[in-house]
Amino acid sequence: MDKTFHIITFGCQMNVGDSDWLARALVARGWRQAAEEDAWLFVVNTCSVRDKPEQKVYSELGRLAAYQRKKPGLTAAVGGCVAQQIGRGFFDRFPFVRLVFGSDGIAGAPDALEQLAEDSKARIALLDFLAAYPEREDVLKPLASAPAPAPAFDADAGEPDAGPAQAFVNIMQGCDNFCAYCIVPYTRGRQKSRAASAVLDECRTRVEQGAREITLLGQNVNSYGLDPSRKDAGDATGGGVGFAELLRQVAAIPGLERLRFTTSHPKDIDPAVIRAFGELPNLCPSLHLPLQAGSDAVLKRMGRKYDRAKYLAIVAELRAARPDIALTTDLIVGFPGETEEDFQATLEMMERVRFESSFSFRYSDRPGVAAVRMTPKVEESVAQERLLRLQSLQNGITKESLKSLEGRETVVLLEAKSRRQDEGATSWRGRDEAGQVVNIRLDGCAPDSCGGESGGGRELAGLMVRARIVEAKNHSLIGEKVGQPW
Ligand code: SAH
Ligand code: SF4
Ligand code: F3S
Repeated sequence: MDKTFHIITFGCQMNVGDSDWLARALVARGWRQAAEEDAWLFVVNTCSVRDKPEQKVYSELGRLAAYQRKKPGLTAAVGGCVAQQIGRGFFDRFPFVRLVFGSDGIAGAPDALEQLAEDSKARIALLDFLAAYPEREDVLKPLASAPAPAPAFDADAGEPDAGPAQAFVNIMQGCDNFCAYCIVPYTRGRQKSRAASAVLDECRTRVEQGAREITLLGQNVNSYGLDPSRKDAGDATGGGVGFAELLRQVAAIPGLERLRFTTSHPKDIDPAVIRAFGELPNLCPSLHLPLQAGSDAVLKRMGRKYDRAKYLAIVAELRAARPDIALTTDLIVGFPGETEEDFQATLEMMERVRFESSFSFRYSDRPGVAAVRMTPKVEESVAQERLLRLQSLQNGITKESLKSLEGRETVVLLEAKSRRQDEGATSWRGRDEAGQVVNIRLDGCAPDSCGGESGGGRELAGLMVRARIVEAKNHSLIGEKVGQPW
């Protein structure tokens, strides 16, 4: 049996990071990443945050079940949040599933997959939560000469295909907040911070390997280092480094041009982190700060532990520290008990803060969370109608804010070729410092590799290009390269 694998990823950036690590760990063991037709093993990395992404997992496994009838022997592993939730239940429902693993169990997944390859009868469940951050084997260095291709990605809400110059580095796992609607604390377990020394080592290696932008990842990065597992472990976990200090240490890595982090909980954002936006030149002026709802009554029932006034005060401080900071958010409509008046308060907060963009969701009941028992439930048609009104308001704000950037100069880190191409030159997609998507036509070529070749024909991803914004589209910008060098 050929050790070939194909990874399908749903969910957040943490899942994308986990899939990327697993791919590297398997390649380091001699496995080969393959297209679906050629793969023996399918890994489905799953998300359970709302009902829709969970249902996608079952339809994906249904599709693989049909495929398996044509390709006997096909084997699957299910990882991530639905795996943690359903566990061994997958073995009964889909007999070709032979490994289930949660986010703490993933460290053991490569060895478990080796075992499945050896023993066609083996079935393994890696579902235990661990008390401390489960540091995984370092798979960065051995792969420097043969990087694993990016895993296939189908996010319910999220950013597709980052470029080769962007790295996502985990700083923690799990969450202790138990917001009333959220399944994450049940599927990802308690908050566990990763040792600062391990975070810094990985960031340095990534920069040495060509990363120009690093995003630090965690469900609630602002409480980095505050979990009990961290205190118990003493120096081994970094000797009392909090998030603001971690940011400073990562920002100081020579060669790192851009630093971002996600996600932040407003209740935990530290004044030192807010100040960092004004102090660290490579900390990008963008922050994803989930508001969830604009009504104090709803925020209270959600258990978010901040109110409108507190949120607005944070926004004012952030803007004082970094006037050009771009704010984005997550919003839920139709939380149990949400009235039209509550919903109006959300719209009003959107008008006040003027987020550059937002992810917005209809409340979805998740098994075991506190909100399941809260009543009255908002009718689906009412929630849907509120969602559309909210999105239409956001679209207007986004459009105006993008329009105001026309004529400005910016620096774009190229990620990939644009999805839409016009005749003539090739268009490349990247992001400016604030995280806005900019598409640029590039007729020329980069120096030192040019040799007369057109910019369209070669790999420009990872280059930073100075550009002038010439046009604002609904959700992105069109730029024109200005000046030299690249
Ligand atoms: N840790 C992040 C969020 C992770 S989940 C944070 O605290 O900001 C991503 C988003 O999904 C949440 O911000 C929330 O807006 C949404 N979400 C979570 N549970 C949901 C549910 N049951 N129904 C609808 N949206 C939900
Ligand atoms: Fe979920 Fe709240 Fe934790 Fe975010 S902070 S993962 S919304 S429980
Ligand atoms: Fe989804 Fe789990 Fe991430 S529920 S959003 S994959 S933490």
